[in-house]
Amino acid sequence: MNVFDERINRFDTHSVKWDHTEAIFEKEDLLPMWVADMDFRAPQPVIDALTTRIQHGIFGYSMPTENTKSAIQGWLNRRHHWSIQQDWIVFTPGVVPALSAAVNTYTEKGDKVVIQSPVYYPFRDMVEKSEREVVDNPLVRKNGKYEMDFNDLETKIADPEVKMLLLCNPHNPVGRVWKKEELIKLAELCLANHVLIVSDDIHFDLIFKGYEHTLISSLSNEIAANTITCIAPSKTFNLAGMQLSTIIIPDEEKREKFNAYMGKLGLFAPSPFGITAVEAAYNHGEEWLDDLMDYLQENLSYLTTFINERLPQIDVIEPEGTYLVWLDFTKLNMSHEELEQFVQGEARLALDEGYIFGEGGKGFERINIACPQSVLQEGLERLEKAIKGKE
Ligand SMILES: Cc1ncc(COP(=O)(O)O)c(C=O)c1O
Repeated sequence: MNVFDERINRFDTHSVKWDHTEAIFEKEDLLPMWVADMDFRAPQPVIDALTTRIQHGIFGYSMPTENTKSAIQGWLNRRHHWSIQQDWIVFTPGVVPALSAAVNTYTEKGDKVVIQSPVYYPFRDMVEKSEREVVDNPLVRKNGKYEMDFNDLETKIADPEVKMLLLCNPHNPVGRVWKKEELIKLAELCLANHVLIVSDDIHFDLIFKGYEHTLISSLSNEIAANTITCIAPSKTFNLAGMQLSTIIIPDEEKREKFNAYMGKLGLFAPSPFGITAVEAAYNHGEEWLDDLMDYLQENLSYLTTFINERLPQIDVIEPEGTYLVWLDFTKLNMSHEELEQFVQGEARLALDEGYIFGEGGKGFERINIACPQSVLQEGLERLEKAIKGKE
């Protein structure tokens, strides 16, 4: 049996996805296929390193060391062909806090920040909660895939009040892994208009066959100096609860400003478990990740075949990366409220409703396929039963 086939009971582990779904969705017996973590155990070397750390028994204040930074450097070199200096690295308790910190560090109240919807909803939230204004540059759908609308961006970014662009690469929820040419065009527009790029690459290790991820910062020194790159082992190795992300800021002045903001929040000492997990994952998690990607590829093909053959009312937007699949339900002709009620009330599934990612997400649902294939099958059969019941 493949290790990823094992169905592990996650109840009573404080899991957001399993223990909190009933309260969050206000419904019982939903199969949770929403929030972006995986129903798989982390790589064994990470579990072993954490076990050793726990058995040490002393859990005092801890800080990452040169070894932690070397592990990150090594990973970026080996897997992403980007050579960074250790002193470019800043740690935060997550990527969302880093997005918020970047907005607050580099823009003023009332400034404008570009997002590309439909996009991971905290992008809009972090901008609006910081009392900055969102400028949306919606993605456009062409031949079943999403693209950036550069004409629209060129007009909007020329506004001198636009100070920052939040890039999602790979893009959650539409699954695009942006091509080099697209990133170059985007970076050039940002440089020409003095707009800082904050690139959220949290899903960058989860790339399907035939696609290649590019870190926008790796394209040139000039682009790197105009970019804040956010990465983490949390999606890659299922370590979101460990709360340690890496923010890479090559420009010294920008880094000092970011550090000053983090200092103001009093954030200086992460959990020892986060540090241990990061080191073990980046140093010893490569083989596990390759096996994971094979499994996710199979799950994706299972889902696509199932939907194409048995649920032609739904269109799968083929993801190039991430374990999140964007499903188009618009042929069912339901309002987004009706669709939500149908998916949760009839199919008994907890998915992420498309509308939370922006206006263009209405009529869509995001499903998380990082689960044993038998769970995916159960979810799709629930959907099939509900759709057949409607006919
Ligand atoms: C694009 C993106 N950024 C950030 C996050 C969350 O990051 P963190 O848990 O490190 O705050 C997610 C989680 O789903 C995500 O999809």
